Amino acid sequence: MCGIVGITSNKPVSSSIINSLKKLEYRGYDSAGIATLLEGKINEFKCEGRVKTLENNISKIKMLGTVGIGHVRWATHGVPSTLNAHPHSSESVSVVHNGIIENSSTLKKFLVEKGHIFKSQTDTEVIVHLITEYLKDNDLKTSILKMLKKLHGSFALGIIFKDEPDLIIGARRGSPLAVGYGPNENYLGSDSYALKSMTNKISYLNDGEFCVLKKNSVDFFDENGKKINKKILELSSEEGNYDKGDYKHFMAKEIEEQPTTIKNCVNEYIDKINKDINLLNFPWKQNEINSIKLIGCGTAYHSCLMAKHWFEQLTDLDISADIASEFRYRKNKFKKDNLYIFVSQSGETADTFAALDLCNKNDMKTCSVVNVVESSIARDSNFVLPIHCGPEIGVASTKAFLGQMLVLYFFSLKLAYLRKEINKEKYLKKIQTLLKLPDLVKKTLETETQIQSSCNSFVDAKGSMFLGRGASFPIALEGALKLKELAYIHAEGYPAGEMKHGPLALIENGMPVVVIAPRDKYYNKTISNMQEVIARGAKVLLITNKSNDEILSENIWQTVEVENIEDDLLPFLITIPLQKLAYHSALKKGYDIDKPRNLAKSVTVE
Ligand code: F6R
Repeated sequence: MCGIVGITSNKPVSSSIINSLKKLEYRGYDSAGIATLLEGKINEFKCEGRVKTLENNISKIKMLGTVGIGHVRWATHGVPSTLNAHPHSSESVSVVHNGIIENSSTLKKFLVEKGHIFKSQTDTEVIVHLITEYLKDNDLKTSILKMLKKLHGSFALGIIFKDEPDLIIGARRGSPLAVGYGPNENYLGSDSYALKSMTNKISYLNDGEFCVLKKNSVDFFDENGKKINKKILELSSEEGNYDKGDYKHFMAKEIEEQPTTIKNCVNEYIDKINKDINLLNFPWKQNEINSIKLIGCGTAYHSCLMAKHWFEQLTDLDISADIASEFRYRKNKFKKDNLYIFVSQSGETADTFAALDLCNKNDMKTCSVVNVVESSIARDSNFVLPIHCGPEIGVASTKAFLGQMLVLYFFSLKLAYLRKEINKEKYLKKIQTLLKLPDLVKKTLETETQIQSSCNSFVDAKGSMFLGRGASFPIALEGALKLKELAYIHAEGYPAGEMKHGPLALIENGMPVVVIAPRDKYYNKTISNMQEVIARGAKVLLITNKSNDEILSENIWQTVEVENIEDDLLPFLITIPLQKLAYHSALKKGYDIDKPRNLAKSVTVE
C-alpha cells in the first residue's frame, strides 16, 4: 500500500528518495511521485506505474533540491493515474499522504467556497488546500495544528513548504510513520525498511503526534503542539534478504525457503538442551489467563483459526478467533483474564492495529505474533512473539503463514504443559516431533511436479472448491484464498460437512474440487463428503498423507500424498501443495505473481 519517504539534507535528495521508494515497492502500488524544493520553488514529478519510470523521467531533468518528499500510491480515492499520484501541491506546499481522509468531501466543499481549485480526485488534496488556506493568516505551526484538527480518518503525512528550504513536517494518526537520523540529514518514512539503507537510528511517531525535521535537528510535538521527547532506537543490523536470486518470483523463493524459515523458528523457540519451549519474558502467570482471543486478517486470520483448533485440542482454555475488521466494531466484553493475540506478518495492518489499540485502551493483556519486530503492532503490544521468517516480499503470504502457525503451535503446547493439561511425556514427544518438521517440509516441496499437472483443470475452470474438516478447514480456506488472489479463479474454502447445506448445488461436471483429507479422526467422514461431490461430477484433487491403507474411493482424479507426521503438524505439510497449486495456476495464466491486481502487501487503510 502507499509509502512515504522524506529527506532533508545538505546535498541533493532525489536519488536517495527514489532508492527508498524502491524499498517500498513490495507494499503494492500503482503510481509514484516526488517533490523537491529548489530556490523557493516546489518541483513535482509523478507518473502512473513503476518507480523505475519515475526515475527515468527525472534523470532527464536533474532534480537538485536538498529537501524533498516521495510517495508510492495504492489508489483509494480516485483511479490510478498521474494526476491522482502524490505528491499533491499548491504553490506554497506539497503533501504526501497514506491513509484515508473520511471527511474530505465536507472539507472540499468548504475550500471550494473559499476559491480553491482542485486538480485531482483524491482525498489528499484537501490537506494541501487546508494548509495553504491557514498559512494566509497563521504561522506554520499554527497552520499545521489547525489542519490536523480538521481531518477525520487515518493518515501519515509528509509536507514541504515553498518558504522553508530546510524543513519537512511529518504527522501521524492511524497510519505508521518513522523518523531516521543521519549525518547532516534526517529522514521520514512510512516504515523503517524504507530508511534502513540510510540509517539504523529510528524514532516512531505515536498517534496524534507530529514532527519537524531539519537537516540538523528533529523536534516532536503532541496533538496540542507541546514539545515532547522521543527515544531513538537502534535497528538490528541484519539487512534481510530482498533479492530473489535465481528464482523467477519472490513467491517461488519464499515457498522454497520454508524448510529454512521453519528451522530458524524451531531453533529460536526450542531449547534443545532442556527439551523445552522458550517463550522468553512471557509476562503473565498461566492462571491469569482463562480465555484467548486470536485476531488477524486474511491469511493471518487463517492461522488464528488453526491456532484455535490447537488450543482447543490441547487446553481447556476458552478460545475464539476473529477477523480484525469485525472485532474492532463489535460490542466486545473485555475481561481481565482474557489474552488477546494479534497475528500479522507486516505488523502494520490497519484493522489489526485498530483492534489492538481498542484492547490496549481497555487495559487488556495483548500479545502479537509478527514477522516485522519493529512494526506498530509489535511496538504497541505487551508481549511479542516473532516468527523469524525474514522479509516476505511476494504479496501472497506463504512462509509467514507457516511461521505464524508454528509460533502459535509452540504457544498452545507450552500453555497446555504449564497448565498441566498435557503430561511431560506427551510434551517431550511433541517437541521431538517438531524437530523433524523442517526436513518433512523440505520433502513435501517435492510434490510440485504432481501439482503442476493438475493446474490446467483449475486454470480453465469457472470456479473451484476447497474442502476440509477440523484442522484441514483453515487450510482449505487458505488454499482457496491463494488461488483467488494469484490466479483470479473463484475458489471457496468450505467445511466438508457443510456441503449438503447449500454449496453442493454448485458442483457440476468437471468442476475442480480440492479435498483435504489427512488420515486423522475426520478421514472417513471427509472421504464420504468427497464421494458425494464425485457423484455429482466433481474432478477431485485429494490431498492426504502417505499410508499403506488404500483410499476408500474410486474415481478420484488425482491424489497428492504429503509426508507423515503427527496429526497436529500435518497442516504445515498440506499447505505446501496448495501454495504450489496457486503459484503454478497463476504462472500458467501469465499473471503478475508477486504483485496480484488490486492487492497490496501491507494494508495500512481500513
Ligand atoms: C494473503 C495475504 C493477506 C494478509 C493480510 C494480513 O496471501 O497475504 O491476506 O495475510 O492482508 O496481513 P498481515 O499479516 O501483514 O497483517
